[in-house]
Amino acid sequence: MENIKNSVEYIEQKIVPAGIKPELGIILGSGLGNFAAEIKGITIPYSEIPGFKPSTIKGHSGNLIIGEFYSKKILAMQGRLHFYEGYSLQDVIYPVRVMKFLGIKKIIITNAAGGINTAFTPGDFMIIEDHINLTGNNPLLGVNPDEIGPRFPDMSEPYNKNLIKLAEKTAKTLNINIKKGVYAGVTGPNYETPAEIRMFRMLGADAIGMSTVPEVIAARHAGLDTLGISFITNMAAGILNKNLCHQEVIDTAASVEDKLYAFLKEIIININ
Ligand code: HPA
Repeated sequence: MENIKNSVEYIEQKIVPAGIKPELGIILGSGLGNFAAEIKGITIPYSEIPGFKPSTIKGHSGNLIIGEFYSKKILAMQGRLHFYEGYSLQDVIYPVRVMKFLGIKKIIITNAAGGINTAFTPGDFMIIEDHINLTGNNPLLGVNPDEIGPRFPDMSEPYNKNLIKLAEKTAKTLNINIKKGVYAGVTGPNYETPAEIRMFRMLGADAIGMSTVPEVIAARHAGLDTLGISFITNMAAGILNKNLCHQEVIDTAASVEDKLYAFLKEIIININ
């Protein structure tokens, strides 16, 4: 809590004089870097903020961008931390907790994911309806900070129904062929084996990725309403007769960036 207070104080000392009070948070997944350029406000590198850890992967810059986006006051995380980088899950979800104490009430969490559902195609967007925590870990382990949320938080509605409706309606308006489904969250960093993907499909997963689940658990614990959007960058292991590689994930993410930006922009404009 002490760290969170210091982080919040540092951020507020930058944004309050500028008259910015963010109400919506957004975590930008791989390939959404340019989104940040459209926010009129202040960029704060994670490395500058007391309590924040810098991101270690190339191509993931670590910045908070806080400002106005089509008349909405938002805070965007350009770059996130992943468990596979060696951080604790508490470090991974730390920025979500800081968002709560900045007064943020809603959060949009995006990610690149592998498609498990064979009706999906790379380039598709999936609204996350629910998730399965397959990380074998949990960011809420340990002493519960009661100021943040309850010891045993409810997870009956991990993804907010109204936000899901808004995302569906927005996709319809923009003629986006949207998918909905269950996101399986794993630690990575290796991609899965074909047998694992068959097992996850039997368990009810439609897409799989190495982020999001810990962040959503922390967001719900902290009382934030969550919208999760996956962009399917590849079919998961064993579905197509080819190997998986990070470059494919980056390339597909880049190819849908404009469409994803348009989708998120319209959602944000219509969120209330
Ligand atoms: N598996 C896990 N994480 C991922 C994948 C995948 O196939 N694609 C993008 N992130």
